[in-house]
Amino acid sequence: MIFKTGNTTCLWKRDFVLLIFTVVMVILLYSMVTEETTTARSPVPKLQEKTDIYPVTISEESITPIKNTKHLLVSAFIDRRVNGFDIRIIGIFKRDSIQPLHCSFYCGGVFNQTTPAQILPHSDNFGYPYTATDVLCPLPKNCDASHVTLLTKPSENMSEHTFIPVRNKNEKTRFNFTVCVSNLFGDYNNVLQFAQTLEMYKLLGVDRVVIYNTSCGPDLERLLQRYSQEGFVEMVPWPIDKFLKLTRGWRFTVNGGDLQYFGQLVTLNECMYRSMERLRYVLLNDIDEIIMPYKHDDLVSLMNTLEPQHPNVGEFLIENHIFPYKHFEPSGRFNLSQWEKVPGINILEHIYREDPDRSVYHPHKMIVRPKLIEQTSVHEVLRRFGERYKVPLDVCRIIHVRVALRGHLKLEELNEDKRLWDFQEKLIPNVDEAL
Ligand SMILES: *[C@@H]1O[C@H](CO)[C@@H](O)[C@H](O)[C@H]1NC(C)=O
Ligand SMILES: *[C@@H]1O[C@H](CO)[C@@H](O)[C@H](O)[C@H]1NC(C)=O
Ligand SMILES: *[C@@H]1O[C@H](CO)[C@@H](O)[C@H](O)[C@H]1NC(C)=O
Ligand SMILES: *[C@@H]1O[C@H](CO)[C@@H](O)[C@H](O)[C@H]1NC(C)=O
Ligand SMILES: *[C@@H]1O[C@H](CO)[C@@H](O)[C@H](O)[C@H]1NC(C)=O
Repeated sequence: MIFKTGNTTCLWKRDFVLLIFTVVMVILLYSMVTEETTTARSPVPKLQEKTDIYPVTISEESITPIKNTKHLLVSAFIDRRVNGFDIRIIGIFKRDSIQPLHCSFYCGGVFNQTTPAQILPHSDNFGYPYTATDVLCPLPKNCDASHVTLLTKPSENMSEHTFIPVRNKNEKTRFNFTVCVSNLFGDYNNVLQFAQTLEMYKLLGVDRVVIYNTSCGPDLERLLQRYSQEGFVEMVPWPIDKFLKLTRGWRFTVNGGDLQYFGQLVTLNECMYRSMERLRYVLLNDIDEIIMPYKHDDLVSLMNTLEPQHPNVGEFLIENHIFPYKHFEPSGRFNLSQWEKVPGINILEHIYREDPDRSVYHPHKMIVRPKLIEQTSVHEVLRRFGERYKVPLDVCRIIHVRVALRGHLKLEELNEDKRLWDFQEKLIPNVDEAL
């Protein structure tokens, strides 16, 4: 009896240990697998689940208000290119309410030493009350900050403030060419042109497209979901309309509102800083614009030629060329039945290029080396460490299919330009697959 009991206890104990062991292994394996898939899936690592381990509030949102001010925080980055500073915060500041601020850090433990912030509003505010603003902070000694925030008084209680992460730490993936598309808003639903342009970027060697999304139309929504699942497009939520009054235009006197064009200048700068360490080039153009090499097969060979010739250049200016969509090429060979029901413009049908009016200002877009750029605007860089180079027209131009800019020009006065057709053999099946 005793013997028997002893034996069953022993067996029971063994089974119990085995059971515990199995459960622990399963949990361990499960957490490893889920962690791997979540970090692989989301391009911006989310710390939200871990916030409870911090003694301060952490925001993983794209836009975070600064307490006791009218300003907004967007992102923070390590940036030691300006002497005496370690961190650059990109924000949106109300120009008439800028007060002295103090940088506060979370560096592994709550750190109550603050440093004075240097506030640099961007000069291109187009008259709007709010403007893209950089804030530079020196780090205190012995602080390897993972999160920062701004205070109005150095003595404030940090537990009552919201910190944002320093984004460009521990990034591994490398990219050659990223396109930063500033903003998507309204019910923009130009699906065919969007798909054709994204597929053209791929053929030209772009590895990634970052898009700031306030809102978009239903068909485009489906297309973008697909591209972001595949990893080619990185969607950044941009709910700027929850914080500021917005209008579509870019001139305050005409359109009113708080901030130019849904914060286009903020997002362009954020995009450039977001991957500064891991990027060779950033293309700052709109989604309906294609930076097209005319003498090289793709952007990689274009830049492999230009870079050694211009080693100190950080800003390559590319001239914008309009292809009005009111003129169709006559053969109709790209009026394809499978695209008939897809909303949007078919860029292959528009081959007539306007000559810019050289007696007035004509805008450019840029290919930049982010490490040499400090602040950018839409058509040129505002502050940079390197030089500027205007790429000749026979080497590279922007193909921009849109409403005519010089509408009075007759068809005979436009230039026939079939450069896009050189890519049609690959482009058409790729677009078909995407749709
Ligand atoms: C900072 O922390 C130290 C030690 O925890 C404390 O003695 C000091 O009063 C704090 N200073 C402020 C301004 O909170
Ligand atoms: C700081 O704020 C937190 C949360 O409101 C509070 O619990 C704590 O006592 C405050 N600390 C000081 C030093 O006032
Ligand atoms: C970047 O370009 C180099 C050649 O210039 C190439 O070897 C490398 O694979 C490219 N990287 C990506 C991510 O495409
Ligand atoms: C774009 O933003 C809107 C509004 O937040 C959201 O409903 C939509 O799912 C987003 N689209 C993509 C592709 O991320
Ligand atoms: C394209 O083809 C459709 C159907 O055949 C026709 O209705 C339409 O007019 C054509 N568009 C152009 C620009 O030729």
